[in-house]
Amino acid sequence: MTASRKQQSDIFDRGTVRIEPWGEGNLPLLKKLLGDPAMTEHLGGPESDEQLVKRQARYERLTQEGKGRMFKIVHEATGEAVGSVGYWDSTHHGEDIYEMGWSVLPAFQGRGIASTAVAQALAIAQSDGKYRSLHAFPSIDNPPSNALCRKLGFTLVEECEFEYPKGSFMRCNDWRLDLSVGS
Ligand SMILES: CC(C)(COP(=O)(O)OP(=O)(O)OC[C@H]1O[C@@H](n2cnc3c(N)ncnc32)[C@H](O)[C@@H]1OP(=O)(O)O)[C@@H](O)C(=O)NCCC(=O)NCCS
Repeated sequence: MTASRKQQSDIFDRGTVRIEPWGEGNLPLLKKLLGDPAMTEHLGGPESDEQLVKRQARYERLTQEGKGRMFKIVHEATGEAVGSVGYWDSTHHGEDIYEMGWSVLPAFQGRGIASTAVAQALAIAQSDGKYRSLHAFPSIDNPPSNALCRKLGFTLVEECEFEYPKGSFMRCNDWRLDLSVGS
């Protein structure tokens, strides 16, 4: 293999990830993702320790309650947990939908990790066959998240006011994916 081919394959390996169901031991990862000011710039700011413990419990219950799925993103090469992706029951304009969210730790961003992990989670949401529509509501000021939606085949519906977290409103894009297409 030439040096440049080797470099290309190393870059590819660094971006290779798998998703695993969110588990009991994932509170430290959740703190790094949602307890951090930089990571939550477009998510209403960091959550308190108490809020994170409650969220951890919600993530653990999600699958058994049949209300969606949360996953941790695992870096194949090192086994390190590098992010989260998941979807959960929601309602939008009177329609029952899945809503989706994602986060990748700063040291691992910009390598295609979110693109790979979100595509894996979408395949599972599609195979669930529960809802026709899956939406994501990234802030209009979040270029990577909006790029991710565009790249993965979501359709931009409209710009909207979105309440997240509860009591706090931000300007978001409403992106929709039709889960019935290709199933
Ligand atoms: C959004 C986030 C998960 C993206 O993770 P990532 O692993 O870096 O994403 P990827 O490397 O797969 O890149 C996704 C797309 O964003 C693009 N992108 C990355 N940074 C960008 C930037 N600053 N401006 C414009 N596009 C950007 C990439 O080019 C890529 O598109 P492409 O493949 O068509 O080139 C990550 O930035 C993050 O965790 N942010 C903080 C949490 C957050 O805001 N979550 C979203 C809530 S809706």
